[in-house]
Amino acid sequence: MDRDTATPQVDTLPGPEARRTVEFHHESAAPSTYVYEFVWDYTEPADGAFCTDVDGNVLLDMTGQVGAMPLGYNNPKLLDPLAEFDLVDPLKIAGQDFYIPAAATGGDLPGPADLMDRLTDITGYGMDTVFLSNSGAEAVENGLKISYDHTKGKYAVTFQGAFHGRTLGTLSLNRSKGVYRRDFPEIASVHDVPFCADRTCTPQSCDCGFFVDGGSALRRMLDPKQGYVDPDEVAALVMEPIQGEGGYRFPSDAFASEVADCCREFDLTLVADEVQAGMGRTGEWWGSDHYPFEPDVITSAKGLRVGATIAREEVFPDERSRLSSTWGAGDLLSSAMGVVTIDAIEQYDLMEHATRQGRAFKEHFRDAGLPGLTDVRGKGLMLAVEFESTELRDAIQAAAFERGLMVLACGERTIRLLPPLDVTTHEVEIAVDRFTEAVEAA
Ligand SMILES: Cc1ncc(COP(=O)(O)O)c(C=O)c1O
Repeated sequence: MDRDTATPQVDTLPGPEARRTVEFHHESAAPSTYVYEFVWDYTEPADGAFCTDVDGNVLLDMTGQVGAMPLGYNNPKLLDPLAEFDLVDPLKIAGQDFYIPAAATGGDLPGPADLMDRLTDITGYGMDTVFLSNSGAEAVENGLKISYDHTKGKYAVTFQGAFHGRTLGTLSLNRSKGVYRRDFPEIASVHDVPFCADRTCTPQSCDCGFFVDGGSALRRMLDPKQGYVDPDEVAALVMEPIQGEGGYRFPSDAFASEVADCCREFDLTLVADEVQAGMGRTGEWWGSDHYPFEPDVITSAKGLRVGATIAREEVFPDERSRLSSTWGAGDLLSSAMGVVTIDAIEQYDLMEHATRQGRAFKEHFRDAGLPGLTDVRGKGLMLAVEFESTELRDAIQAAAFERGLMVLACGERTIRLLPPLDVTTHEVEIAVDRFTEAVEAA
């Protein structure tokens, strides 16, 4: 398959083999697990955004496994460097607890230590220390833990619309769909404020509730005289720099500046959850790099292939075993994939490419005259199109799938697209064409 000429080819979707596989999965899987009725046949051709499913349908995937597949399928930019290593058996070993020679010190395969070294190289904010884990939720959970430990504070502050994971700690910070928190116990003393995502907002015009009476809800909460939260007792202000699950919501400039000012004035520990917006997706290594606020802790996962909590050394506890996990650092293969992903993003200038292609996507969508469209937004290849109603949005997603284009819903009325970071012009054009057909059909 050649990603510069391929087109989606659909017979029945989902076809009989996909249905059989999904049915088999559900025989033993927890019923609440989510299965897209798409089953990739990894023995059949796939390249970049294109792949073949078990029924022989050729699909154009703009979901990138919700960002966990940053360069698409079978990308030689990752597979070629990985093929050079003598991979060992077993590949899954408890990374951080074993002493594997790092590639930087003469080892063969780049392992967890190399990955941590790369992460501190690409991250500013004086961050020089990393704790690796398995997932995004664990990365945020550990970000919370080190903040509580470092500050001895008892409060956490989160934003309306937020999503940070499904562990009991992280779900306590969620303010998106009710299903994530309903009936579960939560960590105490979490307060929330609105996330101002109206890009044209000023403190005077704001109607989302963040700016009120010339000040902000955050400042009012922390005000030493009238506030109800003592800033010295705040362990962490946890924020997705760009909200993902909540609807690809991009902060207004006024909001981002006010968060930065409050962090500085009240000496808050800012935990930036970069699980969805990080790793080059927005055209910068971290979503935060676009804004004036300066995180004290960054959490990453998805495209990195392992979870990572990154901060300055003094933010981490010294005491042995205070943070640990058997499978912390994932496994050798995941760490190596994280390293070659970072290297490929640098070697092929993929952040600049993402910025350019993201702009092209947005122009195409704005020019297409899509009925029912209310907004097109994005940074780099973190892209969103919003429609008049949830029903229309859902119908468009289904119509796109029938046409061999995979896209994902988020928020109430939004469709998100996460193309491979090296998405080609051909892939952009085909995606926009199929999407336009889907909107017209819906
Ligand atoms: C911003 C954000 N934080 C945390 C998570 C949780 O990551 P994981 O599913 O790897 O636990 C997600 C997952 O979608 C996310 O988008």
